[in-house]
Amino acid sequence: MVATPLMNITKVETSKLKDLNLENIPFGKFYSDHMLEADYIDGEWTNVEIKPYQPLLLEPSVAAIHYGQAIFEGIKAYKDPNGNPFIFRPKDNFKRFNLSAQRMQMPEVPEEIFMEGMRQLVEIDKNWIPTQADHSLYIRPFMFSSDPVIGVKPSETYKFMIILSPTGPYYTAPMRIYVEEKYTRAAPGGIGFAKAAGNYGASMLATAEAKKLGYDQVLWTDAFEHKYLQEIGTMNVFFIIGNKAVTPSLEEGTILEGVTRDSAMQVLKEMGFEVVEQKITIDDLIQAHKAGALYEVFGTGTAATISLIKELRYKDYVMQFDTALWQTAPELKKRLNAIRYGQVPDQYGWMMPV
Ligand code: COI
Repeated sequence: MVATPLMNITKVETSKLKDLNLENIPFGKFYSDHMLEADYIDGEWTNVEIKPYQPLLLEPSVAAIHYGQAIFEGIKAYKDPNGNPFIFRPKDNFKRFNLSAQRMQMPEVPEEIFMEGMRQLVEIDKNWIPTQADHSLYIRPFMFSSDPVIGVKPSETYKFMIILSPTGPYYTAPMRIYVEEKYTRAAPGGIGFAKAAGNYGASMLATAEAKKLGYDQVLWTDAFEHKYLQEIGTMNVFFIIGNKAVTPSLEEGTILEGVTRDSAMQVLKEMGFEVVEQKITIDDLIQAHKAGALYEVFGTGTAATISLIKELRYKDYVMQFDTALWQTAPELKKRLNAIRYGQVPDQYGWMMPV
């Protein structure tokens, strides 16, 4: 990639980092010194700049707030044992970002701005990359419609931004999951495959109700029969059934095509599993559980990495697992982390140097 300087870079005089301990840091509460901002005006991207992290000044009529034309990505940067910064599979997130943009009738962001802008931003704030196990620098690119117009129509102006947040684990312990039968995350023809803000807003009531029952998250099922399994909260889901690693297939456009999902599929193959993307129902799962063949259930996501599921509840049927005995998900996480933290050769070409 050509390292074209962005139009404008303004750096902070004093870093906020001196006031922050990067160890044991919670997810998504602290932001680095700088951010990237660009505007889409008159059909082109302009005003590309990196500047000190700061509040935005927006009109109350700004379209995204009213109609939700807003998309985002989640990416992570790590340091190798020599302290060199790398970003994990950012090109895959870049491609998905523009697929989300198309679905939401938003302009695509050029590769130069997304990829090179992100690289330069991470380079400037590389001291914000934590080095503790399970820690990283979470990169949040996002775009929203910015016309101060409350007629319902695609905006003519948009803002693209990237912010950075040093972070520890998203979920800290094995999770209890409630199989959702009342609410729906996505239906064919909808926006389930897009990383659109509204998908997350629409999930909160179901999650809150599951939490009241003592569960951490929901496992979404299809909109028509509430039988076909989709994804868990903010993660894709995998089931280890016999010698197969099964994950719901993407063909209906109801499931986010996770970059960690794809990475997990490749590493599970390397570990000797037959990896199967297929439609799978809750009844299939219960049958496997009754037959003693459902060994492990785990979620995958950029924020969550690999999250173990210790309980799944569907109606009155409860599946419990002793995650301390598991071998597959912990080994998968170990192998993925070894690549991310530069402890083994990057045979897949996943790590982009900053
Ligand atoms: C990610 O894994 O980056 C996500 O999308 C989860 C996020 C909504 C916290």
